Amino acid sequence: MNSNRFPESFLWGGATSACQIEGAYNLDNRGLSIADMVKFVPKEQRKGDRPPNVTRKEIQEMLNNEGNYYFPKRYGIDFYHRYKEDIKLFAEMGFNVFRLSISWSRIFPNGDDEKPNEKGLRFYDSVFDECKKYNIKPLVTLSHYDTPLNLALKYNGWSNRKLIYFFIKYAKTVFERYKDKVDLWLTFNEINVIAKNPYIGGGVFLEDSDNPLELSYQAGHHQFIASALATKIAHEINPKNKVGCMLARTVIYPETNNPLDIIKAQRANQMNLFFTDVQARGEYPGYILRYFKENNVYIKKEIGDDEILKLHPVDFISISYYKSVTESSNSNAERLSDSLFTGVKNPYLETTDWGWQIDPIGLRWALNDLYYRYRMPIFIVENGLGAYDRLEYDNKIHDDYRIDYLKKHIIQMREAIKDGVNLMGYTTWGPIDLVSDSTSEMSKRYGFIYVDKDDYGNGSLKRLKKDSFIWYKKVIESNGENLA
Ligand code: BG6
Repeated sequence: MNSNRFPESFLWGGATSACQIEGAYNLDNRGLSIADMVKFVPKEQRKGDRPPNVTRKEIQEMLNNEGNYYFPKRYGIDFYHRYKEDIKLFAEMGFNVFRLSISWSRIFPNGDDEKPNEKGLRFYDSVFDECKKYNIKPLVTLSHYDTPLNLALKYNGWSNRKLIYFFIKYAKTVFERYKDKVDLWLTFNEINVIAKNPYIGGGVFLEDSDNPLELSYQAGHHQFIASALATKIAHEINPKNKVGCMLARTVIYPETNNPLDIIKAQRANQMNLFFTDVQARGEYPGYILRYFKENNVYIKKEIGDDEILKLHPVDFISISYYKSVTESSNSNAERLSDSLFTGVKNPYLETTDWGWQIDPIGLRWALNDLYYRYRMPIFIVENGLGAYDRLEYDNKIHDDYRIDYLKKHIIQMREAIKDGVNLMGYTTWGPIDLVSDSTSEMSKRYGFIYVDKDDYGNGSLKRLKKDSFIWYKKVIESNGENLA
């Protein structure tokens, strides 16, 4: 790369998920998903910044008393009815890629239905056609934190091997249907979340087991097999299909150069990269076998599983990247707020209003590390700043803090490309404000486009361009050269 321009084929855009934008949770035969059962809990009553690991009993209670709760992910930002307006705005910024997910329960309302729901399939036909109108390539996630609720309640989600069968049926349905419209796919969003929050990651209720750790990793194994089989089928249906895995990559640093800290951080990085190790290299690495042994985890595999993993690795690696984490061997060290990926304070880094440690250089580190570990193309499919925005009297939103965050990350992407990393593209998280995954807030905003809606569901849903909208448009126009 001679100039500061990104490679000519570079994909620029934004990323969303069905359960955080669509709404229309009960329209056109859609079934409920696990995301629809996450109630809103105001900040003062929340324990840290962590999505709840809901129990079966709590779900039943909420289903019986629905009127007592507000479930923000049922309503999203009404993309279901406003997708034309939204995609037009993305096109105005110059997107050539748009990451979205298909809501599984829109296609198979109960997850285990005989036939797909035609109205659901038609909706995505229209969305993909709209993208095509503007030459925007859809990058489609099959499962983004929204396992059909029935699969959770009836089978205990991904802990049950039957889910592989249901998922494959769903994957095959959409691969065939959208054969001429989509050729970039991701199987599971942030697949490593299954080990951290099995309800969100796979509709698993931990109380069903006396060995929750084992149950979580067993569910992960089922997702690995489902993902490998989906990759195989995607290639058979359309040889042009490219399928990626998706990891929540949180770089973990040692607190000091004490070898005990170094080894602790290395182990934590391995536990994070275990998922891509399996999906890219097609086998369980030795460090995880040791961990399983020492923690009484016995994964039930069927004959042929190892072969499936080996024969059908992914075509590319995709990651979300928001922050880095620091680990310490000192068990008394104070830990940061209770989020899914947490550690001790890094004095060199600033934090967001939600306590996430901002670390653009960590992104360069992560990209180099991943690329030279797997030698596969990498796609950053999520990165962004969740922040409170202020709507000025003249309907303007001056989000220079967001521009600053994104600019610094793009500079490090550029450095990584100069280091030789094969980076395919970049989709910032939430190009339009959407419902937060972890907190279900609307006030944790990521967008270039402001959506007039508050945490309690009030607002006109009107879309407004923020300052970052104009800025990102210039970045894309100049293929990453102009970051001013
Ligand atoms: C990723 C998820 O973890 O981070 C998204 O894939 C999520 O669904 C994003 O929205 C940002 O997290 P949050 O909790 O701020 O919405």
